[in-house]
Amino acid sequence: MSRKAKAVLCRELDKPVVVEEILVDGPKRGEVTVRLGACGVCHSDLSATNGTIPMPPPLVLGHEAAGEVVETGEGVDALAVGDHVVSSFIYMCGKCRFCSTGRPVLCVEQGKAITTLPDGSLRTRDAKGNALSIFSGCGVMAEYATLHVDNLVKIDPKIPYDRAALVGCAVTTGVGAVFNTAKVRPGASVAVFGCGGVGLNVIQGARIAGAQRIVAIDTVESKLEMARKFGATDVILLTPGDDPSKALKKMTAGGPDYAFECVGSGELAAIAFRSIGRGGTAVVVGVAKPGDSTSVRTMTLPFEEKTLTGSYFGSCVPRIDFPRMLGLYQGGKLMLDELITRRYPVDEAPQAFADLQSGRNARGVIVFSPPA
Ligand SMILES: NC(=O)c1ccc[n+]([C@@H]2O[C@H](COP(=O)([O-])OP(=O)(O)OC[C@H]3O[C@@H](n4cnc5c(N)ncnc54)[C@H](O)[C@@H]3O)[C@@H](O)[C@H]2O)c1
Ligand SMILES: [Zn+2]
Ligand SMILES: [Zn+2]
Repeated sequence: MSRKAKAVLCRELDKPVVVEEILVDGPKRGEVTVRLGACGVCHSDLSATNGTIPMPPPLVLGHEAAGEVVETGEGVDALAVGDHVVSSFIYMCGKCRFCSTGRPVLCVEQGKAITTLPDGSLRTRDAKGNALSIFSGCGVMAEYATLHVDNLVKIDPKIPYDRAALVGCAVTTGVGAVFNTAKVRPGASVAVFGCGGVGLNVIQGARIAGAQRIVAIDTVESKLEMARKFGATDVILLTPGDDPSKALKKMTAGGPDYAFECVGSGELAAIAFRSIGRGGTAVVVGVAKPGDSTSVRTMTLPFEEKTLTGSYFGSCVPRIDFPRMLGLYQGGKLMLDELITRRYPVDEAPQAFADLQSGRNARGVIVFSPPA
């Protein structure tokens, strides 16, 4: 069946998001319709509205959400009506050499579900009947969404939707970059550039991994206060354009073992790489504009054995890592409650995006009211 749903859309690039009533068609084979409870507002959603991440409008935003299964399509046996789920924004074919070796974020078929469902079609239409694209096979900033079953992971229903939603991007991206991509060692020193939803999770991931020194760097003072709450031992308030690499080298006896770029800038990636010490690893997590580039001093690669790498969705396996993250939350190790600075009803989504842009929130979350 088709369902009416209020949804947050990018209608036009470089314009504020709009809230519209759309139609969400029921699931076809291998698909599931979900009634969403909450959806986090990620910088990647904002990046889709300004062309940094190329996803042409009209686009239903959202890729960090939790909700309840309300209908399943033919051939779906992994999920049933009533299950609580978190969305996952990567497509995994399950068969390619990356999926087969536990690296589904690198699935060679990923291009299949960038703004559509994996079969190339859409279940979303506007009031005039025109098709609406969806962010990364998700489009979950809406009261209802129909997704492929592999873009959903079943979770413990005791966890509230707003907290669970964060595992669909910020938490898994940040903590996963530390655990899975960099494999940060206990006792290591870590620098984190950018302390938003993703960076704060890198910080708490590093704390859980046993890093002894965690230096948080941001251009907004309030973000550094948040960073301390999540585990930063030191902070640097950066004036845009300044290079803190010398200060970092001093603070960490020759440079941190790991640096994470969580902003999306080639210039900062270069600074992160410059900052790390001998044998260090710089991890680019932020997503920069398509034309952006970075540079490294070539000589430091052989003589200092430094590594520059990237991390996509925390190099995660969603069905393994989502429950793992939520288990850390339930065990009191992972802070999720503190990540939510503000909750917004769906009609206030434009304000949520404005607050993200001005750096006001650790994470803002859109909460959907249950049907009357
Ligand atoms: N690799 C992935 O899989 C993945 C997943 C999610 C998000 N992202 C990307 O990660 C980045 C961060 O996302 P977010 O949701 O945390 O964003 P956010 O807006 O919540 O946080 C960004 C932070 O960077 C700070 N900042 C801006 N310019 C800075 C500078 N020059 N130096 C230091 N700090 C600066 C801001 O003040 C803010 O605190 C974005 O580029 C997003 O697209 C990547
Ligand atoms: Zn995201
Ligand atoms: Zn694959």
